[in-house]
Amino acid sequence: METITLGQNGPAVTPLCIGTWAWGDKLFWNYGDRYGAAELQAAFTAALDVGITFFDTAEVYGIGKSEEFLGQFMQQTPQKVQIATKFGPLPWRFSAQSVSDALTDSLKRLQLERIELYQVHWPFAFFLSQEALMNALADEVQRGRIAAVGVSNYSAEQMREAHQILAKRGVPLAVNQVRYSLLNRQIESNGIFPTARDLGVTILAYSPLAQGLLTGKYTGDKATNPSGARSIDSRFSQDGIQKIAPVISLLQSIGEKYSRTPAQVALNWLIAQGNVIPIAGVKTAEQVKQNAGALGWKLTDDEVGELEKITRPWLNL
Ligand SMILES: NC(=O)c1ccc[n+]([C@@H]2O[C@H](COP(=O)([O-])OP(=O)(O)OC[C@H]3O[C@@H](n4cnc5c(N)ncnc54)[C@H](OP(=O)(O)O)[C@@H]3O)[C@@H](O)[C@H]2O)c1
Repeated sequence: METITLGQNGPAVTPLCIGTWAWGDKLFWNYGDRYGAAELQAAFTAALDVGITFFDTAEVYGIGKSEEFLGQFMQQTPQKVQIATKFGPLPWRFSAQSVSDALTDSLKRLQLERIELYQVHWPFAFFLSQEALMNALADEVQRGRIAAVGVSNYSAEQMREAHQILAKRGVPLAVNQVRYSLLNRQIESNGIFPTARDLGVTILAYSPLAQGLLTGKYTGDKATNPSGARSIDSRFSQDGIQKIAPVISLLQSIGEKYSRTPAQVALNWLIAQGNVIPIAGVKTAEQVKQNAGALGWKLTDDEVGELEKITRPWLNL
């Protein structure tokens, strides 16, 4: 499979990343209700089978459970897996030592000595300055426990600041992980997208299927409503679904030409923007296989343009 370099000289990874927020998470996703450990194990195996080896997690996902699952599953395969995880700059973490300690704990759960990418989960660091935080991350690159440094949910300006601090240490900022999908296009209008390109920072697009909406499987009917936090999200209500109906219908008609699903077309559109790796969240092997079908083919420029045009109302939402 083709690979993409993270940032200027980071690790080479697959063009689609598997998102594991739902792996063990009861708070938002209701883990244990419609899916459990067996489905996750099968999803992990299915990803490796189709050649996707790049996984995104975070210490907070399932309060450590997501990292633990990955650690367990990786023990059962000789295949090389690439892990991106995240540090949460919580209020009581105010020293460089807290970065090192959190990384030690993540590595323990993952049963690894080194990961490909360590990201700061959000830009509010409370009493820990960006200077101290970025230097602590640069120290870990030097120590060899992380191959590359990333941030998440950083604005264009915050990304520039992080990039500058790291540059003094000779460490490139490899990624900014932000929400990006056909229904969440803010990064095109708030400066993040062009700034990332200028700085040589790769965009990791989270919630690329708008948490399932872009699959077209949600109809607004109570019977097919998602469980967990999405059940009270107005985007999944009848009104919400009606608003996105023209987008789903275009995804369907374009998909028919290629025998592809709306999800595959939506992920392909993100990849077509360039410098973007979608992180598709999955719970089952079936979802992994379907999302992998977003790779290996290309929408035409006209189709990319049609989808851009129909989702302009979502540029600033
Ligand atoms: N850095 C951050 O702050 C941040 C924030 C959010 C997410 N993330 C990362 O990004 C990843 C993905 O985001 P996300 O999980 O919020 O949203 P997403 O990828 O847009 O949607 C994932 C959900 O859509 C459904 N789905 C996925 N593929 C499908 C398919 N082929 N067919 C039918 N349904 C499918 C599944 O839910 P159902 O089957 O239940 O519908 C799945 O849990 C996360 O796992 C996490 O790694 C990061």
